[in-house]
Amino acid sequence: MMMKNETSEALQHARNYETEKQSVIPDGQKPSFHVTPKIGWMNDPNGFSIYQEEVHLFFQYHPYSTKWGPMHWGHVKTKDFIKWEEMPCALAPDTAYDHGGCFSGNALAADGKHILMYTGVCGPEQVQGIAVGDGRDYEKMPGNPVIRSDALPEGSVREDFRDPKIWKEGNTYYALVGSRNAAFAGQLALFSSADIKDWQFERIFDEGGKDYGTMWECPDFFPMDGKQVLIVSPQYMRAKGLEFHNGNNSLYFVGDYEGAGKGWKRGEGRSLDYGLDFYAPQTIGTPDGRRILIGWMQSWDNYLTPEDFQWSGMMTIPRELTLANGKIRQLPVRELEHYRTGKVEYHQVPVAGEVQLTGIRGRNIDLTVTVEDGSYSVFTIKLAAGPDYETRLVYDRVRGMFTTDRTYSGGRKDLLSQRSMYVKPEGKIKIRILMDLYALEVFVNDGEQVMTSLLYTPVEVDGISFLCDSCLLGDVIKYEITAKQ
Ligand code: FRU
Repeated sequence: MMMKNETSEALQHARNYETEKQSVIPDGQKPSFHVTPKIGWMNDPNGFSIYQEEVHLFFQYHPYSTKWGPMHWGHVKTKDFIKWEEMPCALAPDTAYDHGGCFSGNALAADGKHILMYTGVCGPEQVQGIAVGDGRDYEKMPGNPVIRSDALPEGSVREDFRDPKIWKEGNTYYALVGSRNAAFAGQLALFSSADIKDWQFERIFDEGGKDYGTMWECPDFFPMDGKQVLIVSPQYMRAKGLEFHNGNNSLYFVGDYEGAGKGWKRGEGRSLDYGLDFYAPQTIGTPDGRRILIGWMQSWDNYLTPEDFQWSGMMTIPRELTLANGKIRQLPVRELEHYRTGKVEYHQVPVAGEVQLTGIRGRNIDLTVTVEDGSYSVFTIKLAAGPDYETRLVYDRVRGMFTTDRTYSGGRKDLLSQRSMYVKPEGKIKIRILMDLYALEVFVNDGEQVMTSLLYTPVEVDGISFLCDSCLLGDVIKYEITAKQ
């Protein structure tokens, strides 16, 4: 009985705290179309799902500080992926099996209920639990934890057993849980259940070997165009050219899946995003047949949030995924177009030296620039630029190298500021840039490659300019985006 009282107290405390404290955040400090926490710290997206015709998104949440701490689940919902309604905190770490934190997990709708599956941390052990709710309030199941780490086969590390992805096939529920083995390789454990309460270990569904990090976090697994896609976020990877980078990565594998937990064969891993701040994405399938992804826009190893902010972390723009030639393409959800205003456009603009275009500036923008094929050597776009600041997107056509460089964006720590990807110098290059104050998402060649990074340049610094030895910009089209949350 004691436990039940404590349970509701911890959650109620978090709900009161977030409601009371969110007013300390100054107007205009938050982005306008990206999800942020009401107050405090946010990491991974959790429980991205559709329930009663609304899209719900939960997230790793520590309302009490701007640093990671005992994890709660924050909660927002939306009807169009752009305007989000803030909901009360959904889960607090308040039971014997999750007092160390309610870690990441997933959700689905079943029998009129909204089912959350998450990882409970108790001491060194990680276990899986279920909470059932109505889209606002969630109750942890009396039978929790439903999977303990002793269900893992020998050779698996019981302290690294987290982030269940739950789905239903026929009458059976499946859960893929991130894990690692004693040889320091990531793996996924597959479980099945007829009723969400009793779970059986099926098998080690996939393992990364030596190439893909030491622990697989935050799996997602879904069908696309007759193929199946597995997303994982490995820890402690090593860079392989520009395809991966050191540390926490997010990868996808395209493969074939026979169904019912059987036969899974995959191709090689590829980077989902080449920017500085992207991790732990989740996806949903929408009723109109789209697959939408959202990720955490921050890196574990490069914490940039300014010291005086009372909130930290945000999500990417939700992105529509498509498969082309076995590779994932990502573009901002089409609903964003409803929030475009103030179109400014230019065509056939020659650039030799540095050029500014009247009306092309801003920090809440959707900007597309196409650079015609040519024999130029380097093309640069300066963003959030002023006398003291700039962030550069640099395309070195000769080396086929596209770089985000935030060295002079105003950071005060010696953190990683550059990352590059190969973009073949073939024909024209199309660069779509979303900026939402500190969020910078760059979609190259209709989403063939994406770079997502944060920059905490003062919000009034909003200049944009174009530099080149000799380029022709086919189009420069800019919209303002405002969707005040
Ligand atoms: C990934 C992760 C998850 C874990 C959560 C804890 O970023 O480490 O594996 O569940 O964050 O907040």
